[in-house]
Amino acid sequence: MVKSVNVAIIGSGVVGSAFINQLNNLKSKIAYNVVYLARSSKEALYNKDYKPVDLASYKTASAEPVLGLDDLVVYLKGAHKPTILVDNTSNETIANYYPTFIKEGISIATPNKKAFSSSLKIWNDIFTNAEQDGAGLVYHESTVGAGLPIIGPLKDLVLTGDKVETIEGIFSGTLSYIFNEFSTPEKAEKVNFSDIVTKAKNLGYTEPDPRDDLNGLDVARKVTILARISGFEVESPTSFPVESLIPKPLESVASADEFLQKLPEYDSEIQKVKDEAFAEGKVLRFIGKVDFKNNKVSVEIGKYPFDHPFASLKGSDNVVAIKTDRYPNPLIIQGAGAGAEVTAHGVLADTVKIAERIAN
Ligand SMILES: NC(=O)c1ccc[n+]([C@@H]2O[C@H](COP(=O)([O-])OP(=O)(O)OC[C@H]3O[C@@H](n4cnc5c(N)ncnc54)[C@H](OP(=O)(O)O)[C@@H]3O)[C@@H](O)[C@H]2O)c1
Repeated sequence: MVKSVNVAIIGSGVVGSAFINQLNNLKSKIAYNVVYLARSSKEALYNKDYKPVDLASYKTASAEPVLGLDDLVVYLKGAHKPTILVDNTSNETIANYYPTFIKEGISIATPNKKAFSSSLKIWNDIFTNAEQDGAGLVYHESTVGAGLPIIGPLKDLVLTGDKVETIEGIFSGTLSYIFNEFSTPEKAEKVNFSDIVTKAKNLGYTEPDPRDDLNGLDVARKVTILARISGFEVESPTSFPVESLIPKPLESVASADEFLQKLPEYDSEIQKVKDEAFAEGKVLRFIGKVDFKNNKVSVEIGKYPFDHPFASLKGSDNVVAIKTDRYPNPLIIQGAGAGAEVTAHGVLADTVKIAERIAN
């Protein structure tokens, strides 16, 4: 008999639509029956008799209003089948509901960082509930480094008794691009920090307001997740030092345009830091770090020698160096840390891992 699972997908934006396409083309012995697909925050496709949604026509098919989360649980449980909820949103309300889904036996695959990087209580609720009999499973590889294999290998090391000494990495594609362009081992012609930020925005690499990248919070959320996996009980992403790249007086300017207009006034400050690093044979990189020896988690500008792997990073790649008892020369994982296809592949690989464990 063919094994099957039910799948509920929430979101069909950049990652969600790539995920749906990859799932539609998946060759598998397991049947993935998509019994619910919220294609936006308003509209969802589902059938009361659980007839699977046609993934080839979901964009144009007629839809119903989305179900509230309590009703969604009732609907999904009514099928009496193993079920995976794939959350391809960045929605906090859905994230806060994970402990309930899991307690109700519904598994989660998601690239949404919110639940894993907010208060320690939600993290503990998720993983305590996941240990109970009949609970759902939780996989969230794409919450750090998009589809790069970081969380899985780190969890495996910790599970098998390795001890993490440091985790250090470049976890923002946007800030990777900005610093790779701004600070290079070659003595380039003068490039202004503000010009690169504007270029990154024009290329669509930043959030609509670049301050949402430059404030370091996204990196802090990713570091929080890696720290917690390796046993560091971080209370929240704002409970440790996070260096902001936004000049203080520009924190409160009203619009992104005004911010970009005034940013050149502050170029000389970061230029000085860059020139000092260059004189020492180093480049600047914006990094997140977990340091067990010094009991410290931080997000800051770091200086790296020209021959360090972080110094030769290209484009918007992410990189992480994990130093453990078993890997005193750090394990280094590097590659694209953003983008629809790589992120969706991480979420789909998680979905497949769950299905292989629960399908019947
Ligand atoms: N893009 C990347 O490269 C990347 C990389 C790593 C991780 N991620 C993570 O992947 C997730 C999705 O990112 P994205 O770039 O695909 O975002 P996006 O393009 O903004 O898509 C989000 C989707 O979620 C829907 N949505 C939001 N709230 C919802 C709700 N309550 N019910 C149903 N649908 C809802 C949105 O619909 P509406 O339009 O109606 O709001 C939209 O379809 C985020 O958590 C992000 O951090 C993205």
